[in-house]
Amino acid sequence: MTEDVQPHVSAEFAQATYTPKAQRTEAMHRVLASSDAMCERVLAADALVYAMPMYNWTIPSTFKTFIDAITRTGVTYDLLENGTTVGRMVDKKVLFITTRGADLRGESPFAWMDAMTPVLKSSFAFIGVDAPQFVDAQPLQFSDEASREAALVRAHHDLDAVVAQWAKLFANVKQTEMA
Ligand SMILES: Cc1cc2nc3c(=O)[nH]c(=O)nc-3n(C[C@H](O)[C@H](O)[C@H](O)COP(=O)(O)O)c2cc1C
Repeated sequence: MTEDVQPHVSAEFAQATYTPKAQRTEAMHRVLASSDAMCERVLAADALVYAMPMYNWTIPSTFKTFIDAITRTGVTYDLLENGTTVGRMVDKKVLFITTRGADLRGESPFAWMDAMTPVLKSSFAFIGVDAPQFVDAQPLQFSDEASREAALVRAHHDLDAVVAQWAKLFANVKQTEMA
């Protein structure tokens, strides 16, 4: 069963995920079932779109539990004999749509506090997504009406550009597959 909101990492989960598949007990398989199903879902996708607000400068905790559920040795990444790792989530388009109450762009005094973009980039890079795209709507909650409106116009414009880019890309893929 795939839970939309994944549970937090528990001692049982940690033990089960690092036990080789063939040696897992029934109870371990049950603990991993929701994560297994979510991994299957993301691995099967050509494109993944995630939308989330910024909470206290980073991702919402529910998205962190999702990352913990899809970061699995031998499932979404491989641990090589020389100790390095290689992600399996390759050849996928990934878009993160984020909303921020403050403005963290460019010269903003809040810019250095953006702990959201780095965590999304690093955790997805680890499982093989090397060039995720971002549309960041900001500033929203902590801005005046005009700035909020301008932020939404910018975000819609950026989204239209991603949609056009992806439409072209997937049309080419389809044509190649049919040829
Ligand atoms: C608990 C909580 C924490 C938040 N923390 C931040 C934050 O650290 N930085 C920020 O820019 N916005 C923060 N926000 C604002 C949300 O990102 C904002 O509400 C969201 O982007 C949607 O904007 P809207 O409510 O104006 O539609 C926070 C909101 C809540 C409810």
